[in-house]
Amino acid sequence: MLDDVAAAWRTARHPVVFTGAGMSTESGLPDFRSAQGLWKQRPESLATMAALRREPDEFYFFYQWRIARLWEAAPNAGHAALAALAAAGFVKRLITQNVDGLHQRAGGEAVELHGTLRTVSCLRCGAGYDSRTLLPAEPGWEEAYRAGRYRPGRECTCPHCGGGLRPDVVLFGESLPGAAWEEAARASRAADFFVVVGSSLAVGPANLCPAFALESGARLAVINAEDTHLDGRAAWLFRDKAAGVLAAIRERIIG
Ligand code: APR
Repeated sequence: MLDDVAAAWRTARHPVVFTGAGMSTESGLPDFRSAQGLWKQRPESLATMAALRREPDEFYFFYQWRIARLWEAAPNAGHAALAALAAAGFVKRLITQNVDGLHQRAGGEAVELHGTLRTVSCLRCGAGYDSRTLLPAEPGWEEAYRAGRYRPGRECTCPHCGGGLRPDVVLFGESLPGAAWEEAARASRAADFFVVVGSSLAVGPANLCPAFALESGARLAVINAEDTHLDGRAAWLFRDKAAGVLAAIRERIIG
């Protein structure tokens, strides 16, 4: 099956790749809906502006925890394989739901449908900052949270105007960035070969991208550790870890 999907990818006129959090679990970042996923430990409702207003302690700790790990994480062999395939002309567009920036750090480009956790911005004046701005200066804040002593500090306020800071991710209930969504939909409709990697396809409108590709007659490959609602439409289905499958395909296409 690897030889077959590599041959189809190599000869595709407009190959498009669509990734989710399962792309980055092998870099040590948790996904959302698998057994170890973030939404198994916390409610999805935490990723909302209402949560920022209603329970700022939980909201800020959740994003500080993710930001700290994001900057410690490194791209894995899957990110490297996709960057190499793109550099060789075998990825016309990479669309990601991920906010970790690992595709870009591997040397690739990505259409970020759900924003980015690499930066934060001020709710009052709009000033933007590296997301490490949101990390407490003092160590021990994770232990303080576990001991019930955690309180968001000055790191959660804008150095310029003192307003509240927010991560530049798309929160539930917010619209996707218009330009990113238009480009993702355009590329998906133009695809003749579409690869879904590491996504449950549970969240719309991002999960419409593979559907747009199928409507245009594209052949679909799914590389995902668990089932998705489009598995039955996939010409190739890999129930396996993304990094290994992508590295093996890269080997067959560009050596
Ligand atoms: N290789 C292949 N698949 C994997 C791997 C791996 N190493 N690790 C996890 N997976 C699979 C999981 O089994 C799961 O089916 O990746 C999928 C990840 O699905 P989700 O956790 O739902 O993540 P994602 O599809 O990206 O979620 C979409 O939901 O909460 C929002 O904004 C958030 O962008 C996110 C969106």
